[in-house]
Amino acid sequence: MMQKTLVLIKPDGLQRGLVGEILKRFEQRGLKIVGMKMVRPDKEFAGRHYKEAIAQKHGEHVRNYLLDYISSSPIIAVVIQGSSAISVVRKIVGSTYPGEADIGTIRGDFSHTSKEYAKKNNQGHNLIHASENEEDAKEELALWFSDDEIFDYKLSHEEHIY
Ligand code: PPS
Repeated sequence: MMQKTLVLIKPDGLQRGLVGEILKRFEQRGLKIVGMKMVRPDKEFAGRHYKEAIAQKHGEHVRNYLLDYISSSPIIAVVIQGSSAISVVRKIVGSTYPGEADIGTIRGDFSHTSKEYAKKNNQGHNLIHASENEEDAKEELALWFSDDEIFDYKLSHEEHIY
C-alpha cells in the first residue's frame, strides 16, 4: 500500500545539525522524499498541528510546551512516500520517549531523555514528529503542504526496491 506521511525535523534536530543524518535514514531504507521545506510556524499554526487532544492526553502544559517549542526556530517539514510509509517511518523514528527508543532508531541513536524526565518537566526533546496513522497523515499533510508542493516522480532505482 503506497502511502505518504509527514515528518517534521523539530528545532533540536535542526540546531544539532542532524538534518542530513535524519534524511539519510529514510533514504537508505528506500523511502522517497516527495516534498520538503524549511518553515517557521507561528503558535497559531502550531496549534492546528498539536490539537487540543494532546492537552487531554498529556495535560495543557505539554501542549503549551509543544506550541512554544515548535515555533521557537525554523524546522524542516518533509513528505515521505513508500509502501506502508506511515508505520515504516514510525519504526525508523522510534518510541516517543527517547529513553525507551531502540538503538538503531533515530531517537534511540541521537537522543536519550527519559519518559520520567518528560513527565516531570512537561518537556522532552525527541527530534522528530511523524504522523501516527492514515487519518493524521492526511490531515497533517494538508496542513503543512499544498498540492503543488508535493511531487509525483520516479526514482531511477525504484525498480530495485519494489
Ligand atoms: S506520539 O509519538 O505522537 O504517538 O505520542 P503522543 O503520546 O500522541 O504524544 C503527542 C505529542 O506529545 C509529545 N509528548 C510530550 N512532550 C513533552 N513532554 C511530555 N511529557 C510529552 N508527552 C508526549 C510527543 O512527543 C508528541 O509530539 P510529537 O511531536 O508528535 O513527537
